Amino acid sequence: MKYKDTSELEITLLLEAVYRKYGYDFRHYSEAHIRRRIMNRMALSGLKDISQMQSMILKDETFAFKFLQDLSITVTEMFRDSGFFKSLRENAIPLLKTFPFVKIWLAGCSTGEEVYSMAIILMEEGLYERTTIYATDFNQQALNKAKEGIFSDELMKKYNENYQLSGGKKSFSNYYTSNYSHAVMTQSLKKNIVWTNHNLVIDNVFTQAHLVLCRNVLIYFNRDLQNKVQKLFFDSLINGGVLCLGTKECLHFTNFNNAYTDIDKKHRVFKKK
Ligand SMILES: C[S@@+](CC[C@H](N)C(=O)[O-])C[C@H]1O[C@@H](n2cnc3c(N)ncnc32)[C@H](O)[C@@H]1O
Repeated sequence: MKYKDTSELEITLLLEAVYRKYGYDFRHYSEAHIRRRIMNRMALSGLKDISQMQSMILKDETFAFKFLQDLSITVTEMFRDSGFFKSLRENAIPLLKTFPFVKIWLAGCSTGEEVYSMAIILMEEGLYERTTIYATDFNQQALNKAKEGIFSDELMKKYNENYQLSGGKKSFSNYYTSNYSHAVMTQSLKKNIVWTNHNLVIDNVFTQAHLVLCRNVLIYFNRDLQNKVQKLFFDSLINGGVLCLGTKECLHFTNFNNAYTDIDKKHRVFKKK
């Protein structure tokens, strides 16, 4: 294979080094994303070129861990894209209610805001008690924070707005207790959540699920990898199960474009045929 320029080759070698030494496979992430994160880490650490960075990654585990964290963008919110959560409540939950028990796989859950949003909706719709939510991410630090379910008061103000816009039926403050400048999510929301480290690139199908939700994760993958991960979701979903993607993500250009019908095209909610 020919490389357009030296930096492209250097990036390929760096990602190969990360994979061989640490087992994390970023070789099929979107090039633009990887390049941005490398340039950012180089600037922060005063490194002169990518080869120097590769050498640091191989020799210094603390530095390598920092870089691995850089590659995992954990930006998230509760009831992010409130229109999506409204649609989930109105269009997908009635479908889930037809099953005697429900398994939900929430992949790339970051620090948990999306998981608590899902738990709140399930509770308000009377479905929580017969549901298990499997919340997964490959970033253990983010998962640890998610498990704690502690968010700043400042953020909770914004989340309250999102909750109202998404069709929330109660007072948002029912779902947490305030502790100094923080909000602690209630134990009753955490009860049926199973937090697990799972890497979409190298690990297998996680569970048989009635709903798979993976939002704002595939945007960081190249087309081949998106296709591979879509296969994981397809294999995981039961027939008639629901797939939810992020607003900038779709099934076009994957092998699964015809495997689903639209439940709500705008909000990326699909049903497996
Ligand atoms: C931008 S956050 C999205 C969080 C949440 N889904 C949302 O939409 O608000 C992307 C998450 O995907 C996770 N992620 C990236 N690559 C992954 C992989 N290969 N396996 C599992 N999780 C991954 C990151 O660690 C990060 O927590």
